[in-house]
Amino acid sequence: LKAEIPVEARLQKLCELLQEEVDYYDWVGFYFRNGNKEELKLGPYAGEPTDHTIIPFGKGICGQVAVSNQNFVVPDVNAQDNYIACSITVKAEIVVPLFVNGENIGQIDIDSNTPDPFTAEDERFLEFVNEEVAALLT
Ligand code: SME
Repeated sequence: LKAEIPVEARLQKLCELLQEEVDYYDWVGFYFRNGNKEELKLGPYAGEPTDHTIIPFGKGICGQVAVSNQNFVVPDVNAQDNYIACSITVKAEIVVPLFVNGENIGQIDIDSNTPDPFTAEDERFLEFVNEEVAALLT
């Protein structure tokens, strides 16, 4: 990608590529900490629009990752009690935190319509993606 392409547009393209290329990645998006607030704000994404553009820390899978700083793999979203449903077609979710200089500044969030599709390979891959994104942001 050329240097003059803004970060927002790059992340948008990245979401679209991931959603198109991996058959069980049905919704791919980034959430970022919203300024100094204890909440996440939706950034670039690919897939169906979601009502959940703001998520308080602690709420849902995303809000829990904002606090835990850990990957969260959910093989069956219906088995989770602290879960925010974006679409009834979603069966599974993976959220991987995004660190810049050791600080959790956001996350990549992927929903799948396939039950239990995510493996350790997805975790390693998305950690790599986030490292590349962190480099873009610094
Ligand atoms: N399911 C998420 C909310 C975001 S949507 O998946 C896009 C959660 O429980 O945090």
